[in-house]
Amino acid sequence: MKPAVLALSLIALPGLAAAQGQVNIICSVQAEWCNMMSTVFAKSTGIKVNMTAKGSGEALAQLMAERANPKTDVWFGGTGDPHLQAAEQGLTLEYKSPLLPQLYPWAQKQAADSKYHTVGVYLGPLGFGFNTELLAKKKAAAPTSWADLLRPEYKGEIQMANPASSGTAYTMIATLVQLMGEDKAFDYMKALDRNISAYTRSGTAPVKAVARGETMVSISFVHDATTEKVNGFPVGQATPSEGTGAEVGSMSIVKGGPNTANAKAFYEWALTPSGQQFGLAAKQFQLPSNSKVPIDPRMSDPKKIKLINYDYAKYGASAERKRLIAKWEKEIQNQGK
Ligand code: G6P
Repeated sequence: MKPAVLALSLIALPGLAAAQGQVNIICSVQAEWCNMMSTVFAKSTGIKVNMTAKGSGEALAQLMAERANPKTDVWFGGTGDPHLQAAEQGLTLEYKSPLLPQLYPWAQKQAADSKYHTVGVYLGPLGFGFNTELLAKKKAAAPTSWADLLRPEYKGEIQMANPASSGTAYTMIATLVQLMGEDKAFDYMKALDRNISAYTRSGTAPVKAVARGETMVSISFVHDATTEKVNGFPVGQATPSEGTGAEVGSMSIVKGGPNTANAKAFYEWALTPSGQQFGLAAKQFQLPSNSKVPIDPRMSDPKKIKLINYDYAKYGASAERKRLIAKWEKEIQNQGK
């Protein structure tokens, strides 16, 4: 942690310096960001942070399993759809932050769609990561469209995550259904399955495999490809020319959690400009939801990407999310190659 970063956040929380106790957080962004948030918050407030890392779908499953006796206080990050599902299922607390007016409209809409049971903390478009050295070695072109991913030269060379555990993969299914219509989207995913070598548990595993040169192409949020590139790996990225979806990474307070006052303190801090600087400090390039946070040129500009008008309320509804994941498991995962 750079001392300057730490000092800034200490200034941001003067009133809370004497607070104590603990807060249990499930964190669904990459570990570097989770660790930085937890270290700075604990040092600034005296509140002990117990942080567990979980993918978006896994985090939701844990909150469901804890329903009768919640152990978690805050769920930070991860794709917005399962946060909306948690809201609908009564797992999370209604809470309206005074900071809402500082947030971009997409983050405020996420809060309104959930009847103020969740809120947007970042935005990130879905696309592809690819290993530029592997592509050059095999004389293969980089993919620029969903259609490209079906090309024979990518056979066994694409990885994506499993939508039951990963919000990244669920975002892809929901995007394709909205882009192509459901029947065509499932036909497409069946055809794509021939080129897929692995459906990973975590949403970022495919782009990390790309970075290590284990696979040519990943279906990933493009900011995760940027992270690998910034870390020195030969990773390029593209967003599909037909159009793509974006996640509204979200945050929710668990209803009936053991430390709700501390949960609210963390939640408020995580929406402030100083709380939102840690994504970038941890080399994560999502667009932060607080409009006062400076934008880094390495963050993707949603205006420059062909984004579909993703229906977050529809695809975050429990019945729809469950139905699409079950259909994917039956028709794609278990179809046998
Ligand atoms: C990474 C991305 C986040 C995203 C998360 C989803 O951490 O940087 O923007 O929300 O993955 O993870 P999952 O494993 O649920 O796909």
